[in-house]
Amino acid sequence: MKKNNLTRRQFLGNASVGAIAAVASSGIPAYGYKKAGELAVLGGQPVRTKRFPSWPIIDETDEKSVLSALRSGSWSRGKLVTTVEERFAELMGAKYCLLTGCGTHSLNTSLHVLGIGAGDEVLTTPYTFVATVDAILLEDALPVFVDIDPETFQINPDKLEEKITENTKAILPVHINGGVANMDKITSIARKYNLKVIEDACQSIFAEWRGKKVGTLSDLGCFSFQNSKNLTCGEGGAILGDDEKVMDRCYSFHNFGRPKGRYMPRDRGGHPILGTKYRISTIHAALLNTQMNRVEEQTTKRSENAGYLTSRLNEIPGIIPQKEYRETTRTAYYTYPFRYKKEHFNDIPREKFLSALRAEGIPCSWGLGVLEGFPINREGLIEETLNSKTFQKIYSKQRLNKYREQNHCPECDQLCEEVAGFSGTGPLLGTKKDMDDIADAILKIYENRDKLV
Ligand SMILES: Cc1ncc(COP(=O)(O)O)c(C=O)c1O
Repeated sequence: MKKNNLTRRQFLGNASVGAIAAVASSGIPAYGYKKAGELAVLGGQPVRTKRFPSWPIIDETDEKSVLSALRSGSWSRGKLVTTVEERFAELMGAKYCLLTGCGTHSLNTSLHVLGIGAGDEVLTTPYTFVATVDAILLEDALPVFVDIDPETFQINPDKLEEKITENTKAILPVHINGGVANMDKITSIARKYNLKVIEDACQSIFAEWRGKKVGTLSDLGCFSFQNSKNLTCGEGGAILGDDEKVMDRCYSFHNFGRPKGRYMPRDRGGHPILGTKYRISTIHAALLNTQMNRVEEQTTKRSENAGYLTSRLNEIPGIIPQKEYRETTRTAYYTYPFRYKKEHFNDIPREKFLSALRAEGIPCSWGLGVLEGFPINREGLIEETLNSKTFQKIYSKQRLNKYREQNHCPECDQLCEEVAGFSGTGPLLGTKKDMDDIADAILKIYENRDKLV
């Protein structure tokens, strides 16, 4: 094949003829599969050269909103922030919302206000972004890692009970990659053992469990509006909750401990409780206010595209997309993750597979905004913190050694070796043809796997 002289049209034409041969030889249904000749990584034509939709998206409504906030001169926490909080609470189906500076602030505030502290244990997942675990450790509590469900990649609810001790105070499930943790089982175990539940919904805004939005299914729900998130204002966060007293305390904590609401003692000066400053600015809230207008439509589009893509990827041996529980009524697709089982690809290492996929014009990685090296339970920060002065004072040697011995999550380790995927925010807002390109590129690598060895 004179690979470098083909126009894209000729390339696609040749490709679809080849599809028939590919089906005959592999037994894989064709769909729009185009056998595209030589792999791009080996010098062939890539499946696509066009860019996927980028993220974030703005239009003149965002510009007007931010400009108006700028011109108001009220750049710190102003009235608009309260308006946006009320809008977000209503949109999500919660009684109250507190906007914060970021998702990490939301987690720190929630754990602190719910009384998680020294000596306590919080059950959480090892398959998460580092901020979940930082927040627990910064309250001087121990993150007790519960292995993941290998199909949904969420915390395995059937392994929660075996990790509960007299020190367990809370469960912190993370709705990972836009999916939803098994909230029925988690909340029922929490009720049985009188535990608090805080949802880390930073990656799953607008996902739903039995028709209810994640972040509204527990004591407090935490969100991130960081640049890469499905709803973004650059940097920002939110806490949702239905308990006025708890939410007032969250407000107070995020505002230097200044009093808020009817439950706060008024006879203890201007700072009745310990606090810090985790406030969002009016300028960020102004951007969030207009970005919020599109999130419903964007989520629907991502779901549609992801559903189609999954139907195609399910046909490729060795590619296993993240699954959802039956009760998940909506997935947010912050990312689109799948297992890459190299044994179906002639044992080509994941990094080589990903390089080949990138060469075909599909931006992909194994990190997916979750991992930056190891599973979180094996990151250096854990040992560093266990050895800190504070932890050495709070926890006995025996307890820390037992913690170390039990800190094993083999399912998560395996997932971390196999997972791959791409961002859902921009790419999943594309067309059906864009989804076909992704599936075709993977299929092309599969068909040409012998050449990559
Ligand atoms: C699961 C999870 N938790 C917490 C955070 C922290 O959010 P932020 O970056 O807004 O502080 C993130 C952000 O990427 C996240 O993905």
